[in-house]
Amino acid sequence: MKPNDLSEIVSNDKSHVWHHLIQHKPLQSTDPMVIVEGKGMRVKDINGREYLDAVSGGVWTVNVGYGRESIADAVRDQLVKMCYFSNSAGNIPGAKFADKLIEKMPGLSRVYYSNSGSEANEKGYKLVRQLAAMKNDGKKHRTIFRDRDYHGTTITALSSCGQSQRKDQYGPFTPGFIEMPHCLPYRSANGDDPDFGVQSARELEKIILREDPDTIGSVCLEPVTAGGGVIVPPEGYFETIQEICKKYGVLLHIDEVVCGMGRTGKWFGYQHFGVKPDIVTMAKGVASGYAAISVTVTTEDLFNEFLAEPADTMHYFRDISTFGGCAAGPAAALENMRIIEDENILDNVNKMGDYLMDQLRELQQKYPIIGDVRGKGLFVGAELVKEPATREPVAESVAAAVVADCLKQGVMIGRTNRSIPEFNNTLCLSPALICSKAEIDEIVASIDVALGNLPAQVAPSKSRAEVLA
Ligand SMILES: Cc1ncc(COP(=O)(O)O)c(C=O)c1O
Repeated sequence: MKPNDLSEIVSNDKSHVWHHLIQHKPLQSTDPMVIVEGKGMRVKDINGREYLDAVSGGVWTVNVGYGRESIADAVRDQLVKMCYFSNSAGNIPGAKFADKLIEKMPGLSRVYYSNSGSEANEKGYKLVRQLAAMKNDGKKHRTIFRDRDYHGTTITALSSCGQSQRKDQYGPFTPGFIEMPHCLPYRSANGDDPDFGVQSARELEKIILREDPDTIGSVCLEPVTAGGGVIVPPEGYFETIQEICKKYGVLLHIDEVVCGMGRTGKWFGYQHFGVKPDIVTMAKGVASGYAAISVTVTTEDLFNEFLAEPADTMHYFRDISTFGGCAAGPAAALENMRIIEDENILDNVNKMGDYLMDQLRELQQKYPIIGDVRGKGLFVGAELVKEPATREPVAESVAAAVVADCLKQGVMIGRTNRSIPEFNNTLCLSPALICSKAEIDEIVASIDVALGNLPAQVAPSKSRAEVLA
C-alpha cells in the first residue's frame, strides 16, 4: 500500500479489528465507520463524508474539539525530550499539571497518574481497602455505589456498576460493593416531592446502618450520572450525602471521568453542590483524547495516612500504573487546561448549555415522545416515552432509529445503550465545549427531523399540549 492510500484500510479493519461496544455480525454485509480527520466540532470518514459530532468523540472525550495543533505540538515536544519514565520518579509536565489542577480543586492536594477512568477509580477503591487494612483490621473496606452509575470496565470497576446490562455475563464480581438507589426524580415514586433530593440521599444512611457503619469505607458517585441516563442530582442531594459521610466516617469518592474539565460548566461537577470530596477521579476530558491520561486526586489527610516510616515496607501505597509514567498525558493535559482558560470555555459551556436545554424543551412541546429533558452545561439528555402521562419508556429500537436518522443527516448524537434493560431510551448530547449557537441549531434541527420521521404509531403527530389535554 502506498503512503496515504486508504483503499485497504476498510478491509484491514474488517479482517482484524475487534471494535469496542458494537456487534460485528452486521459488518459482514456493511462497512465499519472509519474516521480519518477532525477539525473543531466536525469529523470526516474514510469516504469523505463530514459529520457534526455532538458526542465529543462518541464518549464525552474531545472537550476542546479536534485538530488542536498546540496540544499536538506540546505532546511532540515532550516526547522527543523525555517520553517515559516510571512515575516512581517525577517528570516536568506531571509536576506542572498537578500544580495547575490542584489550583482548581480547593481542599485537595495529591495527584496520582494512571491511564483510564476505570483504573483511576480502582486506585480509589484500593486506597480505601488499604486504609481499612492499616487502621481497622480491614473491616471498613466496603464501597457503596449507586444504581445507574458507571465507574469502568475492569471486573472490580464493574463490581461497582449500577447498570445491569454492563455487568450481565461478566461475573463473578469482586466482593465488597453495595448498591444504593438512583436519584432521578422522573423515575421515582416521590420524585415530585420538594424534599426528594434529601429523601433520596437518606437512602445512603439507611444502607450504612443496615450494613454496619464499621464496614463502609467509601461511597463512589458520579456528580451527574452519564451513561445511566444523564441524571442531575436534585436539590439538597449532595449536601445530605456529605453530611452522612461525615457522620459515619465514610470517604466521599466523586467520579468526574465524564463531568471533569468543564463539561457541566464548572471545572468539576461536584463544585455545583458545595461538597468537599476525599477522592476525585477523572480521565476522558483531562487531555480531550489527545493522549491517554487519568488521575486520582486526594486530600492531604488521606495522603498522610500512607506516610509510613522508611523501614516499614508495607504501609504505604504500593500501587503502580506503567503508563501513568507517560509524559505525553500531562503535557497534553496542561495545554488542554490552558485552552479552556484562555478561550473562556467554561463561560461558553454555561451559555450554550442553557441554549441547548431551551431548544430541546421547545422541541418537547412539539413532540410528546420527549418525556423529560435534563442536564447541566453541555451535557444533556432527552428521555423518550410512549406518552407523557404514563412515562412508559419507548423501546430501545426507537431511540436507535432517532440516532440513525441523525447520522444519516450528518449529525452524530448518542443514546443510552446496554445500560438498564427497559431504560435504554435517552438521547444523549455532549458536544465539544467550544460548540456554537449555529452548531446547536444544526444538532436540534436534525433531532427535529428524526422525530418527525418516526412512524405515527410510535410518535403521534399531536403536540404535547394536545396529548396531555
Ligand atoms: C463515569 C465514568 N467513570 C468511569 C469510566 C471508565 O473510564 P475508562 O473507559 O477510561 O476506563 C467511564 C467511561 O465511560 C465513565 O463514564
